[in-house]
Amino acid sequence: MDNSAQVYKKNIDLLKVKPNLTEYENTYKNFSWDNVRNELEWFPDGKINIAYNAVDRHLNSPRKDKIALYWEGDNAEKKQYTFADIARLSNQFGNFLKSRGVARGDRVFIFLPRIPYLYISFIGILKIGAIAGTLFSAFQEQALFDRLENSGAKVLITDKELAVRIQNVREKLPNLKEVVIVDDENFDNTIQSQSTDLAMEHMDQNDYAFMLYTSGTTGKPKGVVHRHYALLSEHLTAKYILDIHEEDIYWCTADPGWVTGIAYEILGSWSNGATEVVYSGRFSSEKWYQILADYKVTVWYTAPTAVRMLMASGDELVKKYDLSHLRHILSVGEPLNPEAIRWGLKVYGLAFHDTWWQTETGAMMLVNFPCNDIKLGSMGKPFLGITAEIVDDSGNGLGAKTEGHIAFKPGWPSMMQTIWQRQEKYDSYFVNGWYISGDRGWKDEDGYFWFIGRSDDVIKTSGERVGPFEVESALVEHPAVIEAGVIGKPDELRGEIIKAFVVLRPEFAQKVKDQAYAETLKQELAQHVKKHLAGHAYPREIEFIDKLPKTRSGKIMRRILKAKELGQPIGDTSTLEEY
Ligand code: WTA
Repeated sequence: MDNSAQVYKKNIDLLKVKPNLTEYENTYKNFSWDNVRNELEWFPDGKINIAYNAVDRHLNSPRKDKIALYWEGDNAEKKQYTFADIARLSNQFGNFLKSRGVARGDRVFIFLPRIPYLYISFIGILKIGAIAGTLFSAFQEQALFDRLENSGAKVLITDKELAVRIQNVREKLPNLKEVVIVDDENFDNTIQSQSTDLAMEHMDQNDYAFMLYTSGTTGKPKGVVHRHYALLSEHLTAKYILDIHEEDIYWCTADPGWVTGIAYEILGSWSNGATEVVYSGRFSSEKWYQILADYKVTVWYTAPTAVRMLMASGDELVKKYDLSHLRHILSVGEPLNPEAIRWGLKVYGLAFHDTWWQTETGAMMLVNFPCNDIKLGSMGKPFLGITAEIVDDSGNGLGAKTEGHIAFKPGWPSMMQTIWQRQEKYDSYFVNGWYISGDRGWKDEDGYFWFIGRSDDVIKTSGERVGPFEVESALVEHPAVIEAGVIGKPDELRGEIIKAFVVLRPEFAQKVKDQAYAETLKQELAQHVKKHLAGHAYPREIEFIDKLPKTRSGKIMRRILKAKELGQPIGDTSTLEEY
């Protein structure tokens, strides 16, 4: 708990654009969610719809013809859509889904790369009161099956290339009535032949709007469900933390397969009327700088791994691009090192503003406000209407400068409404009236929060959340493997990489004594996970071992694998079966 952090002082009079929020402490003290309900538009019957607020409400203002989406694909293909375009196309998409029998409350999942139909269908699903789910485009058969089965999805929206991945499991998904292929020859016509009028569903604020599967330590991924009222958190954080102004060009580099892409690439950003850029192609530093320059991006929300990759490509490259429009830059998803902030200040003349939150919290929770000083390495302070605390295992507040669980008082609008059909899992998040985040940290005397690490075995690799259990299960499917233990291993570039400790069947254990064979088998195992689970969730390192450390009840002790890997003390082993 180092108190010597470097402070980046703010003087808001010197900022190019005055922040939407110019004072934190008093605003925080006097804030109540009830007083800001009217940041959203409610139907006269007191009901609400996220999609109306994100898109259609702008049709009554000059924003109607404002660009909502600049889209750029992998091969420099470009498209643009106004808010009126998105409203019309999502109406047509909604009508199409209705014509296929989709009704309020049905789950409709989107499994697409970042193409315009992803955004259009997401809004369309919400408009008709169905529950929208997203699936990251790197998912393979097993990951898809688990999520579609658990959610009982009725329709899957995908493309030709990705659809292949569910062919083998489709017949095991009796609830899945239809797979919609958006690049089928006639699909555009099918959508365009739909009526552009749609009677939007009026939803109760607690009605489910969207869901996302996310990973924990044990078991299959869980379906985190958010309500329509969640938009209030997303709207307000986009307004005050992303600091969206009318004239901004905003670029969020996340994928809507993850929560950041939903909350701040569709919902909160559009609800503030932001013109946004979506680039669906591969990462390269040159391409990213070109996007920033070409679209004259002003607000940029990205992730520490990306910042580190940009850092690795050097300072000179930055000078080749005109990035003079950038005025506010932020990051999320993993710890942002002070070094990255210092580098940002050097090459962009701007400080990255770290934000901390989770799939379950639905919106930013601990944040660096544009009007507050930044302590380099800190996640900042609680957002308005958020009571944050460091608590012990029993949920007792610990006060400043003590390590514990990062916890929040329940009740903010975007707190998850449920875990899909797993009430006990949902309940397990709450202890003594606190929502326990699963992260450990501490706060300093000034109320800044600092990250220490996860309290469970969840892995963050390149900012993407991976559960060790899913990876272990995928490995065990391979004929050579008896069992596997998977951990996150610290990595300078990616934050963590996935490392697997694998126990082989005896005949294979014999064979890997041959170094060359061992290497081949490692590659094969990594490929196996890539092909069956997900392209991003494979182990970059594999080690063959004789035996996994386990508790007496047979649970793999990943903590011990990790301690050994890092050369740290192994700690309490009294519950170990044998070791
Ligand atoms: C981690 C992503 C350090 C954390 C929006 C959390 C962070 C998990 C930060 C949630 C940050 C997120 N500093 N760690 N600023 N932001 N995390 O659900 O461990 O994909 O619990 O949501 O990411 O990941 P998720």
